[in-house]
Amino acid sequence: MSSGKPAVRLALLGCGTVGSEVVRLLHDQADDLTARIGAPLEIVGIAVRRLGRERGNLPVDPALFTTDALGLVKRDDVDVVIEVVGGIEPARSWLTEALRGGKSVVTANKALLAEDGATLHDAAAEGGADLYYEASVAGAIPLLRPLRESLHGDRVTRVTGIVNGTTNFILSSMDATGAGFGEALEEATELGYAEADPTADVEGFDAAAKAAILASLAFHTRVTAADVFREGMTGVTAADVASAKEMGCTIKLLCLAERGADSSGQESVSVRVHPAMIPRSHPLASVGDAFNAVFVEAEAAGQLMFYGRGAGGTPTASAVLGDVVAAARNRLAGTRAPSESAYAHLPIRPIGEAVTRYHVSLEVADRQGVLATVAGVFARHEVSIATVRQSGRDEDAMLVIVTHGAPDANLAATVEDLRALDIVRSIASVLRVEGGA
Ligand code: HSE
Repeated sequence: MSSGKPAVRLALLGCGTVGSEVVRLLHDQADDLTARIGAPLEIVGIAVRRLGRERGNLPVDPALFTTDALGLVKRDDVDVVIEVVGGIEPARSWLTEALRGGKSVVTANKALLAEDGATLHDAAAEGGADLYYEASVAGAIPLLRPLRESLHGDRVTRVTGIVNGTTNFILSSMDATGAGFGEALEEATELGYAEADPTADVEGFDAAAKAAILASLAFHTRVTAADVFREGMTGVTAADVASAKEMGCTIKLLCLAERGADSSGQESVSVRVHPAMIPRSHPLASVGDAFNAVFVEAEAAGQLMFYGRGAGGTPTASAVLGDVVAAARNRLAGTRAPSESAYAHLPIRPIGEAVTRYHVSLEVADRQGVLATVAGVFARHEVSIATVRQSGRDEDAMLVIVTHGAPDANLAATVEDLRALDIVRSIASVLRVEGGA
């Protein structure tokens, strides 16, 4: 389809799983994209690490491939740079060069945005350019644009998400089959959900980067990955999952970002990633397999839920293409996307001040006065007990205690003191409980 207008010219950095899907969708949907934008999109260069790899079935001229990414982003005939390489460097250098030179950037790079988004936003402001990154969090799910635009008339109070598909697959499988973490991870690896080195997923680094990006947008405050409290899910056991079931709960690796007052009464933001029990009645509990979902609470809008595929070449390419269309339209209209909104400068609340509930399983000596002693430790740290379950084991007993909400520091101090008691044989597990009264 001819629009009569000159093409918006694209440079693609990276041609792996996501990049090759971007190329394919640009080709397959060329006519529709031209009609929607009012001008055609044209790829003028594709930077790759190595030339000569089999890319034969991609609908693109092989002469467009180059290994000189920096040279490509500096070219005068590039309007929009799409980055799907990932990592901090050299991506940061390429993108700051592009933005300062007035080129729009569309990126899926969560690690860079979470570690040093400020540099990119500053470069975008300097160059008067657009910076779009919908694909950096939760793949195909339209989530950042709603936070960045649709909810800008409202006041977001909390964001609770399942933003890592690999760990959601593992925890869903443990919940469905009773398998332990190791067995479920093995299954996830065999099916291609988990990477050969699953550290970034199972230790929560991937989710923490996404939490930082979500919190920055939700609370108009620069939040980096270093501000996020992070605890992985490798310690979740089959016994924890069974205990969660008995309580009508399931276990998820959650990212939580919430507004609230700190100990001095000042408004602040708490951002954390950790496994937690949530009631089966919570909308996030039914998010199974490798799906992602994010639950947003705002003062006027109330509760919103965003659900879909958080990874994979085609779903992620969908988010990239949406941003490309927006950036291309802006260029044709001579306008810009809303720039970074970080005016609130809210301080980050330490994890010790986050109010949560704990589920503590401990093996104790089964004799008179033990329960009273254990309860006394909770009381000393001003932690109120909600429920206690006990099951006998010869001379010993297993106690499962669930608390009411209390500052995390009080709960942590309680567990530390319990550990030091002679009558406590072991603390089998400590899990946070979220999403209920
Ligand atoms: N490894 C991530 C996940 C996808 O399992 O969800 C990319 O962020």
